[in-house]
Amino acid sequence: MKLIFHQVRLVDHSMDRRGSLVVEDGHIREIHIDEVPADLAKAGGAAIHIDCSGTDWVLMPAFVDLHAHFRDPGFPEKESLESASLAAASGGFGTVVCMANTKPVIDNLDLARKLQSRAERLGLIDLFPVLALSRNMEGHDTGHLEALDAKTIGGTVRLLSEDGKDVADDRVLRKALHEARRLGLPVSYHCDWGGKEAEDAKKAGLPRCIWSRLEENLATERVLALAAETGVHIHIAHVSTKEAVELIRRARKGSAAQGFRLTCEATPHHLACTEEIVDQLGPESYGRVNPPLRTAADIGALIEAVQSGIIDAIATDHAPHTEADKAQGAPGFIGLETAFAACHTALVAERHLSLKKLSALMSRNPSRILRLEDRGFLAPWARADLVLVDPSAEWTVQKEDFKSRSSNSPFIGQRLQGRVLMTIHRGNIVYDTLTNYPRRIG
Ligand code: DOR
Repeated sequence: MKLIFHQVRLVDHSMDRRGSLVVEDGHIREIHIDEVPADLAKAGGAAIHIDCSGTDWVLMPAFVDLHAHFRDPGFPEKESLESASLAAASGGFGTVVCMANTKPVIDNLDLARKLQSRAERLGLIDLFPVLALSRNMEGHDTGHLEALDAKTIGGTVRLLSEDGKDVADDRVLRKALHEARRLGLPVSYHCDWGGKEAEDAKKAGLPRCIWSRLEENLATERVLALAAETGVHIHIAHVSTKEAVELIRRARKGSAAQGFRLTCEATPHHLACTEEIVDQLGPESYGRVNPPLRTAADIGALIEAVQSGIIDAIATDHAPHTEADKAQGAPGFIGLETAFAACHTALVAERHLSLKKLSALMSRNPSRILRLEDRGFLAPWARADLVLVDPSAEWTVQKEDFKSRSSNSPFIGQRLQGRVLMTIHRGNIVYDTLTNYPRRIG
């Protein structure tokens, strides 16, 4: 199928220009900046033309999420691969990494391959399941990694992670990091020091049993020390405190000399929501997320870190839970369908960040962390994974509108600015709100 976007604002990490873009055979075939060749308008046949002149719509590379929980296999009441993929496509994502805390745990290539090929058959997104750092996420055994080699992993696994918890035993974590280094894979690390303080608080019957900032800071320091020792590419997941930002900033300076690579991510909810929302939603129920929402000072530090490049990527930590589970205190928020709008509202509309920089954080940088060099930017012959957005559209987030099976979002009822209009995956339209658009031909 041929798809032609006429007179659209084209934005990626390095460009913000008006022009036209042609998609054919799953790739971007041509980009014309400013002037449009006369024969483009006439290109007939099976082409779909989308005339964006007179609009401020933006065509960007589709987003790449380094961190989502698909709950498949094991928790169909919360989410499935199908519902999560639909949620991702409607949020403008083309590539997603899904985490291993499923039932059974994703700790073997067989399961990872099955999930990946199911996603491929569905054709909405590319899925890269992580493998857990320890067998069955029990924190004891790394034998499942020792049995692998870089060749057999192939294109299936591009990241390892124990997300959802910390690996408490230093020896096990060190071994897992050595294995990751041997396999040439980055490790996304969830820093929470084993949740000990939260557990103690719970046992003591304290009302607010949350993961403290001290736990995140100590866990960040620990894994940075082990990364320097093992030479692994460490990626710190969902950074939320200003102290953790500072630790990462300092470690980044010395990381090349010490022979390890350090990247990190922040979530839309940690960038956009303060602890007041936790109090409104309920600290032990709907407002609970790990790491917890922090203070305005933390948000300020995260925004500064995003601006200065200390934070490399925005990742959703899409964590679906049923109403009943949330009422019982299950931590997490869904995020795939609101990520762009939440970040656009909090960062771009507030003039903290350009749309170009947001594109780098949501597309180019996460692609590079996964070593996917064919996507995340706009250029002839790049993958045609694209998202068309309306940056001026204001909308209210409504529970009924989610494609996800769950609706545990902190943004429900909030008015956001910026909306996904269309998502293209491998050159195919997989999400489309323009079917009645008068200037869409074909
Ligand atoms: O809030 C969270 N929920 N944080 C995590 O790291 C895991 C996630 C989940 O799996 O529910």
